Amino acid sequence: MEWGMKNRLSRLIQADGKALFLPIDHGYFQGPTHKLEKPGETIKPLVQYTDAIMLTRGVLRNCVDPAIPKPVILRVSGGTSVVGEDLANEAITTSIDEIIRLNASAVSMSVFVGSKYEHQSLTNLAKLVDVCEDYGVPVMAVTAVGRELEKRTARYLALCCRIAAELGARVVKTYYCDEGFEKVVEGCPVPVVIAGGPKVDTQREVFDFVYDGIQKGAIGVNLGRNIWQKDHPVAAIRAIRAIIHDNYTAEEAQSLFEQVKAGKA
Ligand code: R5P
Repeated sequence: MEWGMKNRLSRLIQADGKALFLPIDHGYFQGPTHKLEKPGETIKPLVQYTDAIMLTRGVLRNCVDPAIPKPVILRVSGGTSVVGEDLANEAITTSIDEIIRLNASAVSMSVFVGSKYEHQSLTNLAKLVDVCEDYGVPVMAVTAVGRELEKRTARYLALCCRIAAELGARVVKTYYCDEGFEKVVEGCPVPVVIAGGPKVDTQREVFDFVYDGIQKGAIGVNLGRNIWQKDHPVAAIRAIRAIIHDNYTAEEAQSLFEQVKAGKA
């Protein structure tokens, strides 16, 4: 591996081999998502606890201080919306010149395996990898399901992750599933991070799936709504960070969450 690629990956994946990425890219197809109306304000108290932020060039340029001390994962696919015909019909939206100009440490794009646009999104991934590898920029593939959240089974996610890795993704982001998540990770030859999905009811559910996912081999999370849409985002991210980097159990994370919430930690 070339020095530039190694350097970028080492900024994202920490010395302990783990990572906590904070995505705020949801507006690229959802518009002004709840609690992300002003993304710069949303991330201000959270940035110090994350290992990287994931976002589009528009939000980066307009809402984020260029002096931010954390690396950037640039979302470079899009071209669809929640009111449009098909979320899977994405294209690459950002050039390699822009990726380098914005000093991205990685880029990410979605693949839609099993959709009408499977071929398009997978060949887009392969082309993006070809371009980015020339410049030492890692590509993180996002195994997207569009509106069909029920697709999140181990068999399907394992298929998506393996295909994304085979096409050259350096990291794969996928969903957690209750049954067989270890098979998803085992079948994928590159590091896997867990996406959160829509906000779940209790904070403890988040700690449980993050803890279980890490035990089953994920290197970390790329978790958005289950942090910044929560009532206590700082307490949530600190507790999740403790699971990822300090080997906390879900129960210990819950206890830290309560302490931070009460202003005692
Ligand atoms: C959606 O496709 C975006 O790429 C998000 O970054 C991703 O879904 C992770 O965010 P959340 O934890 O809110 O699902």
